[in-house]
Amino acid sequence: MTAQALTHDIADPASVQRDFRLAMRGIASTVTIVTAGDRERGHGMTATAVSSVSLDPAALLVCIHQKTLLHDIMSSTDGFCVNVLSEDHIDLSNAFSGGVPPADRFLTGDWSETDTGIKYLTSAQARIFCRKQVVVPFGTHTIFIGAVNDVQLADNTSPLLYRNATYCRSTPVAAR
Ligand SMILES: Cc1cc2nc3c(=O)[nH]c(=O)nc-3n(C[C@H](O)[C@H](O)[C@H](O)COP(=O)(O)O)c2cc1C
Repeated sequence: MTAQALTHDIADPASVQRDFRLAMRGIASTVTIVTAGDRERGHGMTATAVSSVSLDPAALLVCIHQKTLLHDIMSSTDGFCVNVLSEDHIDLSNAFSGGVPPADRFLTGDWSETDTGIKYLTSAQARIFCRKQVVVPFGTHTIFIGAVNDVQLADNTSPLLYRNATYCRSTPVAAR
């Protein structure tokens, strides 16, 4: 079913969109910077719409707005990296969500580059390298599913969370 077909069944799409936005704002998500590119051009963008899809094979998805530069680059290249941010990466999150123009973004932070030209954040809590497998456009966004081909983990596990347009930290309440 397409997005358009779905909205026909909704009595008041505007109010559903408003409430949906509020509901989603209340979900705490870990902040990442998704990077993609090749030797000619590289780009990165702050993203929280990241989810694991499968363990075997290891795969994840990212949802990227179709009007972004990252969308253009991910559509025309094969690989991408999800850089999981820590509490001390707020400046980076702001820079990579429009605070700094694309050409200057990688001047903020400690970035290195793979053989194929994908930038990755050396100080990230985790770096998850993927090969693009499935592309699903839906509404304003596109879901990119990537097969994970390498994971690099740091000792530091203090994720930067985002909820209600505010950066937060995770505080354990109880072990499961
Ligand atoms: C915390 C946070 C999370 C975000 N998550 C996403 C996301 O998952 N997908 C997306 O398309 N944009 C997301 N954005 C918006 C983009 O980072 C922002 O629009 C970006 O500036 C657009 O990319 P460009 O300037 O590289 O074209 C998020 C922004 C913030 C601050």
